[in-house]
Amino acid sequence: MEIMKRGALIVLEGCDRSGKTTQCQKVMSWLQQSNIESHFMRFPERSTTIGSLINKYLECSAELEDHAIHLLFSANRWELMPDMKKLLCKGTNIIVDRYSYSGIAFSAAKPNMDLTWCKKSDSGLLKPDLVIFLDIDPTVAQSRGEYGVERYENLEMQKLVRSNYLKLKDETWKMLADRSKKSRVIFAS
Ligand code: TMP
Repeated sequence: MEIMKRGALIVLEGCDRSGKTTQCQKVMSWLQQSNIESHFMRFPERSTTIGSLINKYLECSAELEDHAIHLLFSANRWELMPDMKKLLCKGTNIIVDRYSYSGIAFSAAKPNMDLTWCKKSDSGLLKPDLVIFLDIDPTVAQSRGEYGVERYENLEMQKLVRSNYLKLKDETWKMLADRSKKSRVIFAS
């Protein structure tokens, strides 16, 4: 009998414009070139009904109460859990651009939002095997292209988000500091 090895759940986290999406693409292309079965996901996943409401909120075309939008971000992860479980069980690795840490770090950066409360709705989600945090000085991120297009892309918010991430990190996180001030390459092609 062949025993199927579970896939790995690898999460990339960081402030806005920290380069997560670029690094996810590099990781994915390296995995594909190496013939390692892998799937890319991102949160929020804007294609679902919940995701489209989140998208409107981020684009500032809809207003939602802070706790309500927090729970929608969380629900968006829960609705994708069955698909993620299936992929992992058949041995596929999943590379995820943002996960519950974004949910907590961003929501808890708002006034009157409590870090402990923000953790609760994500309790029970699949636990990542690896979290890679791309650390960037928020003032450097601010100089990157298209900054400011979405709701949370302002310096005060991003500084608070970064400090929340630093509260959430544990010894298992891989912290990658931005050195180039342009684009960081962790997986050279
Ligand atoms: P992105 O699609 O460019 O990564 O941006 C999504 C934005 O939504 C970003 O500012 C982080 C924020 N966010 C939350 O506030 N809560 C969440 O749970 C997630 C996944 C993202």
